[in-house]
Formats: sequence, structure tokens, C-alpha cells
Amino acid sequence: MNTLLAMLAAYLLGSISFAVVVSKMFRLSDPRTYGSKNPGATNVLRSGNKAAAVLTLIGDGAKGWLAVWLAVKFGDQFGLGDTAVALVTLAVFLGHLWPVFFKFVGGKGVATALGVLLGINPWLGLATLVTWLVVVYAFRYSSLGALIAAIFAPFYYGLLFGPDPKLLAIFVMSGLLIYRHGSNIGNLMQGKESRLGSKKK
Ligand code: G3P
Repeated sequence: MNTLLAMLAAYLLGSISFAVVVSKMFRLSDPRTYGSKNPGATNVLRSGNKAAAVLTLIGDGAKGWLAVWLAVKFGDQFGLGDTAVALVTLAVFLGHLWPVFFKFVGGKGVATALGVLLGINPWLGLATLVTWLVVVYAFRYSSLGALIAAIFAPFYYGLLFGPDPKLLAIFVMSGLLIYRHGSNIGNLMQGKESRLGSKKK
């Protein structure tokens, strides 16, 4: 029962789309109406407002981090084991992808996944972030960085901690993140993907 409640709370937290909330705060257009139409930091950056993009990144990352941190911190008290923490990890991520507050139209999960990974272990999050940064620095495609970082994240976890329920959760999370980047993969293959920081169309 506690596991289900924790998952529900994590899902609801994940359902807060900071791209939409922050854009409203800054009186910007709804990110679901321009660029890639994705409610995420990369697309908010296409509005030209860097502060809004950074706040989106921080908000979406923080909710992932917070869900995992709370589950780990209070896990013992509420009888949440390793499997429950893994399920909470997935629940906050699923909330971001299919948010109940936004007609189930959510983002692609990059910032939230990063927050989750930082919550599981700072080194894991850092290694994944560095992977993203290196690819983005080299190619200037946010999506390509996310795709490659998503492939590497489960390997980093496996190397650090070996197989356990959280590794499975990270595999599923990476798989869903790649699935949500279907249009980006198509654009990358056709040379049509927009570079990080290019303005909205
Ligand atoms: O944060 C998602 C990023 O990887 C791709 O975003 O807007 O270019 O589809 P976007």
C-alpha cells in the first residue's frame, strides 16, 4: 500500500510540466505550440528566453531528484525497499511523459531522467550529464546528447552498483526516453534536426 501511495505521489509530482508553468510565468507562448512542440527545456530555449529554459531544466530535474530522494530518505520508515524506490523512479518519469494535469501530453523526459539519476547517485547523474554535454558540445544537438546519454546511463549504473531493481528501472526509463525521441531520430537521420539554441519556427 505504501509503495502504491509513494508511486502515486511521485506520478503527480512528475505531472507538473515546468515548461508550461515557467512559460506562463514569463508570459511566453505555450511550448506545445512552437518548435518541436515538446514541453521541455530545449524547446523553451527556442523562445529565446534563456532564463525560462534554465528554470524549466531545473524544475523538471528537481522533481525527478526530489521523488527519488524522498523515497530513499523515508523508505525505511515506510517500509519501502529497493523495488519500491525503483518503482517511484519510474512513476515520476511516467508523470513527466504522460502528465495527468496536462491531458497526458508531456515531455521527452531528459531533465527528469537526469534528476532521477542524480537522486539515485550523484556520480551516476554526473557521468550521464557529462556524456550529454560532450555530445552536445561536439554536435550541438540536444536530442542526440540525450539519446547517447540514455544508452550509457544503464551501463554506468551497472558498473557502479551491479544488477538490481533500479537498474531495470533505468533501462525502462532509457527505453521510454528513446521512444519519445522518435521524431528527433527521424530528423537527425534526414539532417533536419535543429541545433541547440536555434530560434523557434
Ligand atoms: O529535451 C528533449 C530534447 O532531447 C529534444 O527536445 O525540443 O528538440 O525535441 P526537442
